[in-house]
Amino acid sequence: MNILVIGGGGREYSIIWKLLKDNNKHKIFAAPGNGGICDMADCVNIGVNEIDKLMEFAKEKEIGFTIVGPEVPLSNGIVDIFNENGLKIFGPNKKAAQIESSKVFAKDFMNKYGIPTADYIKFNGFETANKYISHLSPPFVVKADGLSAGKGSFVIKYTEDAIEIAKDLLLKKTLGDAGAKIIVESFLEGEEASLLVLLDGSDYRLFLPSQDHKQVFDGDKGLNTGGMGAYSPYKGINDDTLEKIKVDIINKTIDGFKKEGIEYRGILYVGLMLTENGPYVVEYNARFGDPETQALMPLLESDLLDLLISASEGELGERAIEFSDRYACCVVFASEGYPKQYEKGKEIKGLPYRDKKDKLVFHAGTKKDGDKYYTNGGRVLNAIGLGDSLEEAIENAYKITDDVFFENMHYRTDIGRKGLKYEK
Ligand code: AMP
Ligand code: GLY
Repeated sequence: MNILVIGGGGREYSIIWKLLKDNNKHKIFAAPGNGGICDMADCVNIGVNEIDKLMEFAKEKEIGFTIVGPEVPLSNGIVDIFNENGLKIFGPNKKAAQIESSKVFAKDFMNKYGIPTADYIKFNGFETANKYISHLSPPFVVKADGLSAGKGSFVIKYTEDAIEIAKDLLLKKTLGDAGAKIIVESFLEGEEASLLVLLDGSDYRLFLPSQDHKQVFDGDKGLNTGGMGAYSPYKGINDDTLEKIKVDIINKTIDGFKKEGIEYRGILYVGLMLTENGPYVVEYNARFGDPETQALMPLLESDLLDLLISASEGELGERAIEFSDRYACCVVFASEGYPKQYEKGKEIKGLPYRDKKDKLVFHAGTKKDGDKYYTNGGRVLNAIGLGDSLEEAIENAYKITDDVFFENMHYRTDIGRKGLKYEK
């Protein structure tokens, strides 16, 4: 089958890698792809949000199924448009994707259906926000309503910072429309976990729990990023907690979707905070997580395409989702400066990486020129280590730094460490 994958990050690389691992006869196109994806698939230079062009391309190449990686085309209704044109596609429609594209929508939804989440207040004007924030004791969290590539949430330590952030968002419009409304919410203490749920409209399957590392530096220090590394399975969710997550979060979410007239087919990413008082939802995303997906794809044993097509057709039926009983750890190699301004165009040494035992390199922000690869984004590569224990998976991921590197490359050295306390 001809398949189109939309996106050009490590997440899309890992999806394509898995599709070809399951069946190397698939003909895969990627828009726009990246330096490494172009070695596995035909890359076409169409942006992820050029929906009309993507649709024309899908018709011309007789694409049998399209998989959408990033949130922006989902929030702009790519799924509705493809479906109206008789094209099969994986992901939630525009109405459903609001669960990620508007934090106000998501918080109001959780509030209405009794899904545990941090208490919040929403504002659309600076005066009232300022008055409220001025009397609030940190820590608390300020969030822009709209999509902001992981850069719209701020954990506040000093009230003055919060006032500046509210001013930037509401008055200076530094994030444009995405910051036209803001949320101020209470700080949740605990450990974060990511749970990807494959939904077919009514039924669901769970991916293994994983854990992202959002902050740029070791020890969860520094600015939030799109994610500096992830590992799976995350064992901080025991059977009791999982049951609570199913009853208090997943079932209530699916029920809420039905009551709101939302047919959710696609991945629902549930970002969790495991607190003393039980699991809370920090955020929902309407898509596969990045870099969680890069840790999950090597562990997934079921046929990915079959799962995604059946979910998109509302027919998960009796299908099981199966995983190996190994561990995967994904370390992100980033450009100097990321998540702020960063340089591009550094030559990457050690590529193409000839996958060694239990070590894989997935491309994210890379570009190929001749037979050389260059950095072309903030998050450049994903080093994946596999192992029979978490420790072994971590060790294998970091061994890749012996062979693959670029000038001023930076990465966290503690990916996966938090998980070791749950291992015997
Ligand atoms: P979000 O954009 O909502 O995913 O938030 C980004 C990151 O900010 C999360 O992954 C957490 O690390 C942190 N965060 C967001 N909301 C809260 C909260 N209420 N309490 C503690 N940390 C939070
Ligand atoms: N890993 C966080 C995200 O995909 O948004």
